[in-house]
Amino acid sequence: MADSDRYLVYHGLLLPKVVHSEESLEYFQNFQVKDDDVFAVTYPKSGTTWIQEILPPLLNGGDLTSVETIPNWDRAPWLEETRAPVVLDKLPSPRAIVSHMPYHLMPSSFFKSKAKVIYVARNPKDVLVSLYHFHKMAKFLEDPGTFEEFSDKFLSGKVMFGKWTDHVKSWRNRELGDRILYITYEEMFQDLREVLGRILTFLGRELSAEALDRVVNHGTFQNMKRNKMSNYSLVPETVMDSKKSPFLRKGIAGDWKNHFSPELDAKFTAVIQEDMKGSNIRFPWDEE
Ligand code: A3P
Repeated sequence: MADSDRYLVYHGLLLPKVVHSEESLEYFQNFQVKDDDVFAVTYPKSGTTWIQEILPPLLNGGDLTSVETIPNWDRAPWLEETRAPVVLDKLPSPRAIVSHMPYHLMPSSFFKSKAKVIYVARNPKDVLVSLYHFHKMAKFLEDPGTFEEFSDKFLSGKVMFGKWTDHVKSWRNRELGDRILYITYEEMFQDLREVLGRILTFLGRELSAEALDRVVNHGTFQNMKRNKMSNYSLVPETVMDSKKSPFLRKGIAGDWKNHFSPELDAKFTAVIQEDMKGSNIRFPWDEE
């Protein structure tokens, strides 16, 4: 299959055709954002499915019904994907909406709204590892080749949604002021309860300790792996082959150490540092 059959090109970004269409992108552009919408924005493989699991119950007083009965793509839909026009207008407010789009491509109503944003970043080395395995199991993406070959593709942004560095930099835009909260996958991995507390404060919401415990427990990797509404087992094997690699694969921080040679590590770090030069953005993993 040629790349043009796999991907739509949208403002220079490759978007998989399996879940993106001209119509879905038109819906995205014209979407009317409400002030109480809550966006979770991620570069792919940074913990999107995880935030789709914990955000709806944080917004509805700790009720787990939606995470137990509605697939993640309908529960907290991607604004740019084909399910958005089908489900978003029917979702009760406050709506949890996810997006992989960079800041400058968000719909114009987003910039006029007061909608809040939770931006989840993940160590790009682990993002690369996760994406590499995803390319092996997702039939709608090209075979990744060797890990070294795929890392070159990743660093040059020839993967879905472009360069990781462009994405994280775009969302550091000062215009957002206190509308945005920055969290990392690694912090969620280390202490999910603490991060959920921060999200609640950011959203101006409260949950009882008991309800918060339930959400934390529900959001563990093992429990999400068992949840049919979140583990992608509803997707046919012809689209995603979990025998090759499960969608919820390892769920750890630092798996890159099992994939990177010292040479690749040095090269990868140098390219990312060069791309981030002058941005003043520091991540916890920069110190590693
Ligand atoms: P790995 O491939 O490293 O295991 P996304 O949802 O943005 O596509 O990201 C998928 C990555 O998030 C996968 O990483 C997946 O296992 C991980 N993930 C999802 N839920 C998780 C959880 N509850 N705990 C830890 N990692 C989780």
